[in-house]
Amino acid sequence: MCFYGDNASDKNVEQTYCKENLRLSTKIVLIHLAFYIITWLVRINCILQLLPHTWTNNYIKKVIFTLKEVKMSKPKVYVIGVGMTKFVKPRSVDWDYPDMVREAVTTALDDCGLKYTDVEQATVGYLYGGTCCGQRALYELGLTGIPIFNVNNACASGSSGLFLCKQIIEGGNADVVLACGFEKMAPGSLENMRANLDDRTNPNEKHVEVMANTYGLVPAPITAQMFGNAGLEHMKKYGTKPEHFAKIAWKNHLHSVHNPKSQFQKEYSFDQVMNARKIYEFLTLLQCSPTSDGSAAAIICSEKYLLKNPHLRKQAVEIVGMELGTDEPSVFKENSNIKMIGFDMIEKISKRLYQKTGLSPKDIQAIELHDCFSANELITYEAIGLCPIGKAGELIDRGDNTYGGKWVVNPSGGLISKGHPIGATGVAQVVELSNQLRGRCGKRQVPNCKVAMQHNIGIGGAGVVALYRMADQKDGSYRSKM
Ligand SMILES: CC(C)(COP(=O)(O)OP(=O)(O)OC[C@H]1O[C@@H](n2cnc3c(N)ncnc32)[C@H](O)[C@@H]1OP(=O)(O)O)[C@@H](O)C(=O)NCCC(=O)NCCS
Repeated sequence: MCFYGDNASDKNVEQTYCKENLRLSTKIVLIHLAFYIITWLVRINCILQLLPHTWTNNYIKKVIFTLKEVKMSKPKVYVIGVGMTKFVKPRSVDWDYPDMVREAVTTALDDCGLKYTDVEQATVGYLYGGTCCGQRALYELGLTGIPIFNVNNACASGSSGLFLCKQIIEGGNADVVLACGFEKMAPGSLENMRANLDDRTNPNEKHVEVMANTYGLVPAPITAQMFGNAGLEHMKKYGTKPEHFAKIAWKNHLHSVHNPKSQFQKEYSFDQVMNARKIYEFLTLLQCSPTSDGSAAAIICSEKYLLKNPHLRKQAVEIVGMELGTDEPSVFKENSNIKMIGFDMIEKISKRLYQKTGLSPKDIQAIELHDCFSANELITYEAIGLCPIGKAGELIDRGDNTYGGKWVVNPSGGLISKGHPIGATGVAQVVELSNQLRGRCGKRQVPNCKVAMQHNIGIGGAGVVALYRMADQKDGSYRSKM
């Protein structure tokens, strides 16, 4: 309390005294408050110490992730429409690539009720074809003058285009973009597709060199040798058996029975897979992806667009996270075929994806995984963290890669059975995962599918991993105001 005297100087003294008192009290209150906060922080820390280590780690990660999300989040990006052609054996249908693309894009646009004129930018992934095939294909739908990017990133061309679309939207450069891919191939191996390019550096020469230095080169399709040798190395290092690889192919063929877009829809016995014609070492014909014709498309939009079109929210699939990587130095340095096919690149970007999204393999139900050869699916289980290194065989024996297990890997039939029209593959994976999340897959529906993962890789190299889930059904307007 403060008392004022009779004269002015007394008043001044009293006022100064009061101010001093106030300052002192404030200091005391602040010190108490700091002490109080520190005590509580110590207590919380003690409680966290008592919890199992993984809990506390996950808890801290989630808190950090939430804080990051609130403070630095990029605008969300959604897949709102998907479509694809049936994948077919090359030359079995009388069509050209513009026909395939027109069909896939029209289906994707119809899926979300948009017109081609709504599309502001587009990417088109393909491996074989001259420059500007993307333009030629999309001109079938209209000459709207939009930016069109032709993407050539080996077997990851389709998903690299998707990655680009996501960045275009995150950068605020468009609200509706199209990612599509196609391939028109020839029967037989990729060697049949080679144009006369012998006067220049082969982009895979260093990868092939690793293989030549370890297992040598034989007259078999080069891609089958690359992935087959990685499988041989896995067997040698970890005791994996040829049966483990065959089980993967048997499963993928079985999954495709209920996929009408799949190139093959035939159920094979395990013995048929094991005893089919040998392509390279343990890899039989039924464990190799075929060559295929086909196209796939996805319409991608911004959160702003979804807010303006709330009727699309119920079918919108959020791209929770997506990472694109290229090779690490170990790809050439360690004389390892497992590393040469991109193990370290996929391991690194998968870890980054989990870290950035706060999700982990435990949260995932469905995975579309790049099974160009059964060996790659097996090795990738370890690279994306489904099991420890060397333990993929055990995961397969437990049936954790199919219905009834921890994850359904390749519910579509994967590349081995659905087919592998190279530029379309990365987009077709998103078609399947979007339909799985929306619960539209009929007899091949993955039960309780909440989070889905994509893995797409190209030797040379490029790798994409991504996580998807249905859009939050609440109006997300609170985010757009941030
Ligand atoms: C596996 C491969 C060597 C087979 O080639 P091929 O035997 O010379 O010739 P084809 O393509 O005509 O295949 C022969 C038959 O097997 C079938 N076939 C091919 N792959 C199949 C599969 N995974 N499942 C079922 N049948 C398959 C073909 O449809 C064809 O059947 P048909 O005789 O009834 O027409 C070839 O398809 C290949 O190289 N695949 C890998 C492609 C690749 O490298 N992609 C990039 C991955 S990184």
